Amino acid sequence: MSDQSQPATGSRGTVDHLEWPTEGYDHVTDVLVVGSGPAGATAALALATEGVRVTVVNRYNWVANSPRAHITNQRALEVMRDLGVEAEAHRVGTPWDQMAEMVFTRSVVGDEIARLSVWGNGPDRRSDYLMASPCPILDIPQPLMEPVLVSAAAERGARLITNTEYLALRQDADGVDVLLLDRASGRRYTVRAAYVVGADGANSRVADDIGLPIEGRMGRAGTVYARFRADLAPWIEHRPGILHRILISAFGEMGLRTLRAIGPWHDWIAGWGFDIDGPDPDLSHEHALEVIREMIGDPSIPVEIDNVTPWKVNQAHATRYSNGRVFCAGDAVHRHPPSSGLGSNTSMQDAFNLGWKLAYAVKGWAGAQLLDSYSDERVPVGAAVVERANQSRRDYQALNELLRPNPAFDGRVPIDLVDESTPDGVAAREALAEAIRVKNFEFNAEGIELNHFYESGAIIDDGSGGPQLTRDRTLYAHASTRPGAKIPHAWLVDERGRRISTLDVIGKGLVSVVTGVGGAAWADAVEALDLPYLRVVRIGSAGMRDAYGTWRDLRDIHETGALLVRPDGHIAWRHQGEQWDAAQAHSLLVDALRGIGLTVPLGAAAHAEAERIGAER
Ligand code: FDA
Repeated sequence: MSDQSQPATGSRGTVDHLEWPTEGYDHVTDVLVVGSGPAGATAALALATEGVRVTVVNRYNWVANSPRAHITNQRALEVMRDLGVEAEAHRVGTPWDQMAEMVFTRSVVGDEIARLSVWGNGPDRRSDYLMASPCPILDIPQPLMEPVLVSAAAERGARLITNTEYLALRQDADGVDVLLLDRASGRRYTVRAAYVVGADGANSRVADDIGLPIEGRMGRAGTVYARFRADLAPWIEHRPGILHRILISAFGEMGLRTLRAIGPWHDWIAGWGFDIDGPDPDLSHEHALEVIREMIGDPSIPVEIDNVTPWKVNQAHATRYSNGRVFCAGDAVHRHPPSSGLGSNTSMQDAFNLGWKLAYAVKGWAGAQLLDSYSDERVPVGAAVVERANQSRRDYQALNELLRPNPAFDGRVPIDLVDESTPDGVAAREALAEAIRVKNFEFNAEGIELNHFYESGAIIDDGSGGPQLTRDRTLYAHASTRPGAKIPHAWLVDERGRRISTLDVIGKGLVSVVTGVGGAAWADAVEALDLPYLRVVRIGSAGMRDAYGTWRDLRDIHETGALLVRPDGHIAWRHQGEQWDAAQAHSLLVDALRGIGLTVPLGAAAHAEAERIGAER
């Protein structure tokens, strides 16, 4: 064990000012996770699933108590599918088709001005979403999502400690001492961990303590959210949607008001902007009631307000996610508004990327190279998400201008002209259509959700020049098997004729050599290598028939070629051409595995087998 009196390595000075207990460690764990939000809970679940000893601390006594994140995108659901909790997600979530419509209306009971089919529910986009993933989008408010993740993690052995605050850490060559405070008793104690995950949200103390560089601006705009109950089913259930825009001119860059369903169709949030440079916003229930009544448009509908809270719009991201043995994930490293619904989704995906890498390090199957790839792969994703979410807010400007007196329309309010049979009416309708069209980049942006093409030390570039983007990168997902891409989804058929996805035959903590029925050479090589983390997957064979031929169209390798697919589904390396020679396949695989930082201990049996294959050749 390390000398606890030493100052922290890599910290920014907070450690030295705290009194560290001297009586030794409360307990020792492989990974300590700070925070049990979407990032921390997913990290804990991924690690516990791999049998890694993981301790999770949360400063509160249970999970999130406010709705916050809700849109759960296809990639986050693929993560849940791999971790075996997708069925639970469907149990607690609002289904995809109930999220279909975004209504732009003067009030809930008032004139509907425009409508957008969202989250891929439009007839023009539904097939894109169905082809890209086995998982339909769901709406899962955070207080329903977190218990699914946390409970599964605890069931699989994670040690969950609530009412416990992270105070400080100090790391040495072998591990990290983490100073914690039991808020109930006031006791401070230390846990020793091989690695730490800082998933402590947008005000991350862990990110501060390890000195992560953060670029951007916190608190660039303000929003008030009022949670309320009202039975709005008669106005919503025939045009179901989770988010609606109420076209009442309001303060701020969105310049309108938001209505969000928490529990269809009686539990709601109303949102509106406030000036962060002005006086504090009015958070009284009386004011909120007035605003909500105007949004509903019928004062006789009973409204019961639960709470009114302000939050601030951030636009900041870390340019590095780790320092030594400490890794940050989620809002700790990307901070942005809820527009585009990317926050908890990206947080869960960070944790999924990191989880298997930490598990492999703990098990001695990988080292620093693989761990370093976490930051290299996720920083660009986080930066793009922060930019997209903030741009999605700015993209309301065109709509915003239609709600105010406008010089281009002789000082009239363009939205008031949409029923007029005049040149100005035509111009107002054209401007409205364009203002709504741009919102596809917020609400039908499957590309930003799924196009994660990694470049790092855990990916071997094959010189093919990155994925070919034939359509808009933000709107459309691009299937590719080039190294760095996630393996494309294709439906296969199992022994009993049930549809399974290509994503179902890879992952689950293992590295897969994906080949075809003709890929015997790879199968022999994998068998000879006899590595605990490696398996061969022969798509087309019994149990995973390529019955529709979709995989043949997507794989972009010869049937006897191979993809080296990491546990998170991303392709680390590929061999596109024919391969019938087991010895060659063996040596190519060893090079690829070592190339991405995995250990390939060739034991005596494996050596003998490799020689046998070589001799036969
Ligand atoms: P999160 O903040 O959720 O969790 C942090 C955890 O760390 C908590 O468990 C906390 O108790 C703990 N913690 C903090 N400091 C600690 C300490 N010192 N010691 C111990 N524990 C500590 N996202 C999305 O994907 N889709 C959406 O639709 C929306 N919508 C949305 C609406 C609104 C109003 C908001 C405010 C946010 C969203 N989001 C969203 C964003 C989403 O809520 C956010 O991105 C995720 O909660 C981030 O998850 P994390 O796990 O990173 O942090």
